[in-house]
Amino acid sequence: MNPDLDDARRRYEHALAPEDRERHPFYAELCDRLGDDELGLTLLGEVRATQRNPMLILAALHWHALRGHEILGPLYERVRRGEPADVKVDVATVLTVLHNNPALVRGELWRSTQTNEPGRSAVLQALVSELAQDRRAINVIEVGSSAGINLHFERFRVRAFDDHDALTLVCRDLGGVIERTLPSIARRIGIDPNPLDLANRDDRLWLKACLWPEDRRRHERFDAVVAAWPTWEPVEVLCGSVRERFDEALTLTKDSFTIVINTWVLFYLSEEERAWFLTRAHDAARAGRCAAISVESPLVEIAGIDATKRPEQRGASRIVVAREFDAPELWGWCHPHGRWLEKVRS
Ligand SMILES: C[S@@+](CC[C@H](N)C(=O)[O-])C[C@H]1O[C@@H](n2cnc3c(N)ncnc32)[C@H](O)[C@@H]1O
Repeated sequence: MNPDLDDARRRYEHALAPEDRERHPFYAELCDRLGDDELGLTLLGEVRATQRNPMLILAALHWHALRGHEILGPLYERVRRGEPADVKVDVATVLTVLHNNPALVRGELWRSTQTNEPGRSAVLQALVSELAQDRRAINVIEVGSSAGINLHFERFRVRAFDDHDALTLVCRDLGGVIERTLPSIARRIGIDPNPLDLANRDDRLWLKACLWPEDRRRHERFDAVVAAWPTWEPVEVLCGSVRERFDEALTLTKDSFTIVINTWVLFYLSEEERAWFLTRAHDAARAGRCAAISVESPLVEIAGIDATKRPEQRGASRIVVAREFDAPELWGWCHPHGRWLEKVRS
């Protein structure tokens, strides 16, 4: 097989973690069929290297559904409502639509996967409470902030069980008791080459398209964030890549202790930019200037972190922290959307 298509097939295969495949049969089947389909593989192969993620193809289809495509619209709406259906038939219909008009997806490949997942705020609360070390106020810099929702990480309630409030994050703490005394946030600075604005209709629609249609809870939460957003103080947005704006963000926050955060971003950076940023952030931590939190795919290599260590759960995200005056260390693992969190025993 053409090596590019082979690579694309592997990406579809690994797009969903096993636990997510069970909860999202429509998306699991869609990934399987796209990964078997020459057009599905070709489209993914056409995506620029830093965005070659099946989620972009899935989001492009979802985007047309949300914009009222005559076949995809009602089909995805049914999937979102969880109405019983034959998943194989639904996915075959989606593929027929795609084959009849590949431009539907091809026309959106300039976009980026910009999922802004508030579930990650549950993980951030646990980590910030530990790294802030009883400080009353800190600054936060988020690299790859998308719409900036997680710069308001402390606004969500975190519970082990669902209380049916849309702004509650359900996160199982698998690693023991995690204290959550949070400092107040003096400055919230986001860096993103394409910052999204929750007040803009198209941006909101793209953020929705990046959510998975079967995860009703995520859609409800997103809607609740959009409703609350005007009452939350605005975040400071530095538009540009981390390479272009990170030093400026560090300068802006130099007067008080700062935590630098990156969640599901490094995958989208070139190797050179990734290495530059990690060195910069970890050097700043070693110098006592900040602490740094990285929640990323374990496929992203971080110097000094043993890449062979894996958690029990496949598809987990790896949490690496650099405390002030210290080198980076493996903190633990979590679900990519913050459904569970596990601290490794040192
Ligand atoms: C998958 S989203 C994750 C958003 C957010 N961190 C979260 O976890 O909810 C990745 C974000 O990284 C941004 N990004 C891509 N390349 C970047 C770069 N070179 N520097 C900074 N941000 C970047 C994208 O625009 C996008 O908004």
